[in-house]
Amino acid sequence: MGFKMVDNIWKELNQYIINDDFIFVTDRNVYNLYKDEIDEVLNGRENIYIIPSGEINKNLEELSSIYKILIKKNIDRNGKIFCLGGGVVGDLAGFAAATYKRGIEYIQIPTTLLSQVDSSIGGKTGIDFEGHKNIIGSFHFPLTTLIDTSFIHTLPEKEITCGLGEIIKYGLIEDYNFFKNIEKNIKKIYNRDMRILPTIIEKSVDIKFTIVDKDKLDLGLRQKLNLGHTIGHSIESFFKYEKYNHGEAVILGMMYESNIAYQKKLIDKEYYNEIIGVLNTLVEQPIFNSFEIKILIEYMKNDKKNRDGKISFILPTGRGTVDLFYDVEEKLIEEAILNDYKI
Ligand SMILES: NC(=O)c1ccc[n+]([C@@H]2O[C@H](COP(=O)([O-])OP(=O)(O)OC[C@H]3O[C@@H](n4cnc5c(N)ncnc54)[C@H](O)[C@@H]3O)[C@@H](O)[C@H]2O)c1
Repeated sequence: MGFKMVDNIWKELNQYIINDDFIFVTDRNVYNLYKDEIDEVLNGRENIYIIPSGEINKNLEELSSIYKILIKKNIDRNGKIFCLGGGVVGDLAGFAAATYKRGIEYIQIPTTLLSQVDSSIGGKTGIDFEGHKNIIGSFHFPLTTLIDTSFIHTLPEKEITCGLGEIIKYGLIEDYNFFKNIEKNIKKIYNRDMRILPTIIEKSVDIKFTIVDKDKLDLGLRQKLNLGHTIGHSIESFFKYEKYNHGEAVILGMMYESNIAYQKKLIDKEYYNEIIGVLNTLVEQPIFNSFEIKILIEYMKNDKKNRDGKISFILPTGRGTVDLFYDVEEKLIEEAILNDYKI
């Protein structure tokens, strides 16, 4: 388990590919964009499986197709899977690695901003099932995560927003100065300014890695990574994963959850306005009526982190600090979601 920032992933891969005992898993968009480089690394071998792009394919059918190619290529217990893509490829192919022959090694090569700063670190693998997100999965840590920031150049703007949401989260949960640094550099991040992006990505990975390292199986400290996720997941589910990507829903979740923290007087107005001032420019806020908010709250009640039937929230408690709360009244949740965030 570890990560490495690399200048040229295609050269780096030569160190890892020694024989035929591997498969690459990638998605259609990534393959189309990087076909020449991938084909050169494969050097005529057909050890590759390409899934269609998108969350909807993080499913049992694609998992089963990966098992089939692993068997067809006679990959043994010393074999490896290279997961080249965003969080969907990483979660799905990582789960194939976790379960094939009771677990083989895999290497994460994240190609989205979100996967570079978040999903490729931490060993959570899994698939969605019958509309339930990440309901089947396991902890299986990659041999390593190789991060080449040049992948960011081909990312659409929406995917930059998704990664940015998780980056801002790291500032809010752990490091206020980092948050202020991001606030100052939002435009440069969208412009994919390579004078600052690699440092921001490495700092984000460091924060996640340090937290995960102390709580690998998500039994305590790691829960702070869920800021924005209680409401964020409910929004993803409400829109059936079609309207908001994960990172965008987390941005909305962080706005609403910061509002709850402000209502509960956990943070002062100045800090609250700083948070909202950064987040409210990134994603268009949906308008929910009271009936729809009740549906959102029902989704929140199904959250994996809940205890004794109470919805759990990670809420900001100060600049760069958060804590876990189980005592949030539904009225506060409703008020937070109904609030107009234009300041
Ligand atoms: N395991 C974890 O700890 C963890 C943490 C956060 C999120 N996740 C999961 O990650 C997934 C979201 O990941 P994501 O945001 O990377 O989504 P994704 O994998 O769907 O990628 C987003 C889009 O970007 C495209 N793409 C990928 N790399 C590209 C590149 N370099 N240039 C152009 N296009 C590119 C993909 O084809 C896709 O269309 C969700 O399933 C979420 O549940 C997992």
